[in-house]
Amino acid sequence: MKKELQFKEINKLTEEHYQLLLDADPSRKMLMNYTKRSICIEARQEEVFSGVMLLLPTRPETIEIINIAVVKQFRNHGIGQRLLKCAQNWAKQKGYRVIEIGTGSTSFGQLYLYQKNGFRICGIDKNFFVEHYERPIFENKLRLRDMIRLRLYL
Ligand code: ACO
Ligand code: ACO
Repeated sequence: MKKELQFKEINKLTEEHYQLLLDADPSRKMLMNYTKRSICIEARQEEVFSGVMLLLPTRPETIEIINIAVVKQFRNHGIGQRLLKCAQNWAKQKGYRVIEIGTGSTSFGQLYLYQKNGFRICGIDKNFFVEHYERPIFENKLRLRDMIRLRLYL
């Protein structure tokens, strides 16, 4: 039987949250910067912490999923997809019209997941990961340089 998944808005993040959020964004400095301005939603599966995401209002009527991560042993069981749906419902309820997400050009799995869930590519932040990160990032045997930006109209 499928385990029940619950989502909850969190006011105070713990080290457990930060450790997981660092899986999606390796820069603690960047993370600390946007965490303060974001809404945090965590996912628990029968009380067990299993995922987290941060939603950042960026423009009038627009909110960005600035960070999303699922605990390693629970990945590939649909929790990421459920978090994306939860973000959409939350944003709609709060009156947002647009939801955005950005990911690395080398993050093929993530690009698949976001497009599968209705996000469409709307831009490229060239050299984002070169200019904003102290150390080079490698993924899928490639140097990560550019950020792909995606958008969904609610
Ligand atoms: N590589 C390949 N395929 C993937 C990946 C991946 N990294 N992530 C998801 N998928 C596919 C799954 O195979 C699945 O495919 P299917 O529907 O055809 O079976 C589909 O996408 C749905 O996947 P879920 O199980 O819902 O995703 P999951 O619970 O694993 O969560 C997430 C996805 C959040 C990306 C997770 O892999 C993770 O925490 N990764 C590390 C952190 C990260 O990369 N976060 C995103 C960075 S971008 C940002 O934060 C804005
Ligand atoms: N999916 C996943 N990985 C691929 C793919 C693919 N479709 N094509 C190549 N790769 C990877 C290989 O796994 C390999 O990875 P590695 O270096 O880590 O081992 C690397 O890319 C190099 O692959 P090659 O063996 O050199 O590529 P191949 O001889 O298979 O040619 C091509 C690639 C031309 C895309 C071939 O798969 C093909 O003819 N596909 C059908 C037609 C097509 O899609 N053409 C491109 C359309 S875009 C355009 O024409 C401008």
